[in-house]
Amino acid sequence: MTSIRLLSVASEIYPLVKTGGLADVAGALPGALAGEGVATTTLIPGYPAVMAAIEGGERLHAYAELMGGPATLMRGRAHGLDLILLDAPHLFDRPGNPYLGPDGLDWPDNALRFGAFARAAADLAGGRVAGFEVDVIQLHDWQAGLAAAYLHYDPPVRRPGVVTTIHNLAFQGVFPAWMLGPLGLPAQAFALDGLEYHGQISFLKGGLIFADRITTVSPTYATEIMGEAGGMGLHGLLGGRSDVVSGILNGIDTAVWDPATDPALAAPFDASNLGARAANKAALQRSFGLEEDPAAFLIGSVGRLTEQKGMDLVPPLIPDLVAAGAQFALLGSGDRELEDAYRTLATAYPARVGVRIGYDEALAHAIEGGADAFLMPSRFEPCGLTQMYALRYGAVPIVARVGGLADTVIDASPYALAQVVATGFHFAAGSAASLRAALTRAMAMHRDEPGAWSRLQRNGMATDCSWGSAARQYAALFAAIIPPPSSA
Ligand code: ADP
Ligand code: GLC
Repeated sequence: MTSIRLLSVASEIYPLVKTGGLADVAGALPGALAGEGVATTTLIPGYPAVMAAIEGGERLHAYAELMGGPATLMRGRAHGLDLILLDAPHLFDRPGNPYLGPDGLDWPDNALRFGAFARAAADLAGGRVAGFEVDVIQLHDWQAGLAAAYLHYDPPVRRPGVVTTIHNLAFQGVFPAWMLGPLGLPAQAFALDGLEYHGQISFLKGGLIFADRITTVSPTYATEIMGEAGGMGLHGLLGGRSDVVSGILNGIDTAVWDPATDPALAAPFDASNLGARAANKAALQRSFGLEEDPAAFLIGSVGRLTEQKGMDLVPPLIPDLVAAGAQFALLGSGDRELEDAYRTLATAYPARVGVRIGYDEALAHAIEGGADAFLMPSRFEPCGLTQMYALRYGAVPIVARVGGLADTVIDASPYALAQVVATGFHFAAGSAASLRAALTRAMAMHRDEPGAWSRLQRNGMATDCSWGSAARQYAALFAAIIPPPSSA
């Protein structure tokens, strides 16, 4: 088996620091890639939680000055992960969310914070740090994207293969053009074929222009981002590079998300004893203060309450659904207006609508294991992990037919039901009428056709959501861009 050395550059990693699916991916992929002959080291900012978790830190490199203060690259291990931390207290020694200050707004120096992160990534991967060498660097999202630009404008000792992976095109890292100087980039980078983006500079664009390969996290999203509707202003660039763009569907960590062993569940279960889910449903109803009604159609949802996730489509439908016998259990946080709308509904229907505003890993597991259905009404969704957790936990996903949701859930159409392959319900993204129809369809099947419903559950639980296939595809892609030894 080939042996490939990879530097993965990620601004969050489970279980050390997580705001969303990127952390899950960055945390799980190294283990899966190891089986394909890829040895991964992950560069991560030295947030307080990360600094506290590292074992046996070894000092790799010291910067007398990196974007406004001294910094150190420390190598160590935590939770089986091989990590390099960028210890730069002036940039990362701050409590709370990795991107936002206590006011809920982006830290004002995010350009410098992730510029320094990208600079360190380029130094490590480009052969400027003694004792460290890799074949390929994988840049996750805008926070890492500028590393490709540093490798381009400041030619390294040794250029690795460069892959940029888009987890979410909505976040592009756009900053004023005058930041080029403080970031240590030349004025010539302010160009159409450089970082210039509508009069500003874009970190993500740097990652897209100067990478050898661009991947995103599902095949459907790869197609969507090359079109005007899904390209968020970058479809021209991405379409122009379509020969190097591909979609590799995420997997999930099937050890962390295993209903048979999950300590967060009242009653662990597998496909052979789906009856045990009843105890999880009752526990979930209790923990949300809902009526303990075994017949209720309990719809769960976990995620960011944002426009992307389409969670604004749901509140107007709730009164009718509640009247028809549904219950809701929601865990999430995000837009204040949406949080308030859900709180108001919980107050209006205390036995039927339960809302927890916040972030709670164990409760997320309990929702997947206890809800009858799992709702994900995203307007766009690069991949989405929670619907895959739902499949594995026997909560039937009801999803917008978009991005990775379309690639992971098979709609209960008459044809798919006849073929016994259906795993959930689709509706047209952004359409409240279509969402209402899908919910009505799902409720009717749950109420009237218990056999067909449990078939959906068992099909979902049998779906292979592991990282195996993705790891093979990444390994092949990395192997194709390793620079020949002569250029080393
Ligand atoms: P995104 O990355 O766009 O937010 P994903 O579905 O890829 O969406 O991943 C979201 C991840 O974050 C999942 O692991 C999900 O369980 C978790 N998550 C999101 N919101 C919450 C929350 N409020 N509490 C606990 N876990 C959450
Ligand atoms: C992003 C996307 C989500 C995806 C995750 C991991 O946060 O919004 O769809 O699953 O990244 O790739």
